[in-house]
Amino acid sequence: MVNSARGPANAPGRARIRSRVAEATPQLIGEVARLGLGDADAIPLWYGEGDIPTPHFICDAAHQAMVAGETFYSHKRGLPELRSALSEYMTNLYDRDVGPERVTVTASGMHGILTAMQAILQAGDNCVIVGPVWPNAQAAAEVAGAEVRLVALQAENGVWNLDLDALFASCDQNTRMIFINSPGNPTGWMMEREQQQEILEFSRKHGIWIMSDEVYTRLVYERQVAPSFLDIAEPEDAVIVVNSFSKSWAMTGWRVGWLTHPAWLNHAFNELIEYSVSSVPPFLQKAALVAVTEGEHLVQEIRERCRQGRDIVMSALLEHPKVAVSKPQAAFYAFFQVQGMNDSLDWAKQLFQETKVGVAPGRAFGPEGEGWIRLCFASSKENLNKAMQRLTVFLDRN
Ligand SMILES: Cc1ncc(COP(=O)(O)O)c(C=O)c1O
Repeated sequence: MVNSARGPANAPGRARIRSRVAEATPQLIGEVARLGLGDADAIPLWYGEGDIPTPHFICDAAHQAMVAGETFYSHKRGLPELRSALSEYMTNLYDRDVGPERVTVTASGMHGILTAMQAILQAGDNCVIVGPVWPNAQAAAEVAGAEVRLVALQAENGVWNLDLDALFASCDQNTRMIFINSPGNPTGWMMEREQQQEILEFSRKHGIWIMSDEVYTRLVYERQVAPSFLDIAEPEDAVIVVNSFSKSWAMTGWRVGWLTHPAWLNHAFNELIEYSVSSVPPFLQKAALVAVTEGEHLVQEIRERCRQGRDIVMSALLEHPKVAVSKPQAAFYAFFQVQGMNDSLDWAKQLFQETKVGVAPGRAFGPEGEGWIRLCFASSKENLNKAMQRLTVFLDRN
């Protein structure tokens, strides 16, 4: 029996896996990370997460809610008290009021993206995505049935820029969504207000959704918060903003995030959440409530830690003659080019094998990411100093 990605050759006629899913390309970061499974000497800077565990004040809230019996199915779009707290948090952060009727709690940012894409995209639609970018958004649009069109940011002297004419030229009458991740993973690119305004006007004129992935919005180093579509969009605009507890509250494993959207999507989200997780576990939501209402000091600490990490990594990379890099203004990644490197996957594997420093190959973020390497600097000074010493030796030698 021969197995193809869609199932064994003798599977009866229609007993097949959907081609979109069967043919999905495995994430390349995992291919490097698998080399280091169970390796105690590895310095893992490949994934997009920090190295501090969730603080006790957040864990305690989950535990208390659990033992108090908050273990039942719950509100589909999130506990009213969490949605109100998120509304207050965003109203304080942005230039406009964001009402709780526009907030939906999801089982992670990723779940929010998939849920919103399932609500909006279908076969025949295209989704225009600005890259290089974290690959999951593209995969989610494809799983939802849409065609993906990538528009490449341009790097000039290591600084990333979006050409708006190229973005608009890639849209046509089948474009239903523009997906933008700013502050960006892996580039650290941050879109400024003027560009957001132009994209919003384009979306209004042509009736195209904007999905703005803002999960790194608090990880900015020269200001308090990144420019957001929530600063400029009206409540009824076709704009969905994705947020998450993962990065800024050290909660990657909890899988809690939220969407901000026009209230007329509530029915669609109620249905889709009912058919996926039914509700985010209430005890996790109670912990998220404590994180957002009492965790501002944590957000600041994480940002400070990342700023220090950025400085350690940048001083080594900027000094090295074989490396081209610019200092990211936001998010927690160094994204750099290495002279003479042709294949980022092979390079990342070789680096790990020789030094135990784990990084992500740029190709994992789309074809325009080839030739680049991503290194996550949300790590301890000790780890980063050690990693940069080893990386420098490797660069000198190869
Ligand atoms: C740009 C971007 N968006 C969304 C996410 C999803 O975060 P989560 O699903 O952990 O909330 C990530 C995680 O790496 C990310 O980098």
